[in-house]
Amino acid sequence: MQHLFAITSLSDTSRLAQKIAKLIFPGMVITLTGNLGSGKTTLTREILLSLGISGTVKSPTFTLVEPYILKNFQVYHFDLYRFNDPEEWFYAGFDDYFTNQSVSFIEWAEKAKGLIPDIDWDISLTVTGDNERKLIINAQTEAGIECLKQLIANDVD
Ligand SMILES: Nc1ncnc2c1ncn2[C@@H]1O[C@H](COP(=O)(O)OP(=O)(O)OP(=O)(O)O)[C@@H](O)[C@H]1O
Ligand SMILES: [Mg+2]
Repeated sequence: MQHLFAITSLSDTSRLAQKIAKLIFPGMVITLTGNLGSGKTTLTREILLSLGISGTVKSPTFTLVEPYILKNFQVYHFDLYRFNDPEEWFYAGFDDYFTNQSVSFIEWAEKAKGLIPDIDWDISLTVTGDNERKLIINAQTEAGIECLKQLIANDVD
């Protein structure tokens, strides 16, 4: 199941992020697909801030993953742009990051194709203007579909 959200400004992105943050569930896996500068980190950062993470949310370009500890679950923000070798996945123990107590946001997930377990949502971002984005959420699991339905129901304002 998929749904298109038209974004016309940065504040649209923040508003959608706030709504998404309310629906995040422990165990959720979200990949973010789109060109350089399409807004993957920006959207993730807005969601993390809405989840109550304080301080800076930096792009994990060099570290591949940044961990955040919340009350009820951990959040892992991956950026796999520099990831090339599937063996590195196992070497880094990334499998262990995916538990029912963690939520993962993964930029450039296509670099680790086949290695990421059960993707609930793939969010694709396309630049359609300076501050405009075409944002499509593609829900791929039962839990993901349920969550997307709730988001759509909450999106009327
Ligand atoms: N509506 C919008 N939503 C998100 N970002 C926007 C929007 N309008 C403008 N921008 C700008 O687009 C840029 C998006 O950069 P960002 O680092 O989030 O992209 P990215 O997809 O993570 O890129 P990379 O592949 O390099 O990690 C930022 O400079 C942001 O301010
Ligand atoms: Mg990024």
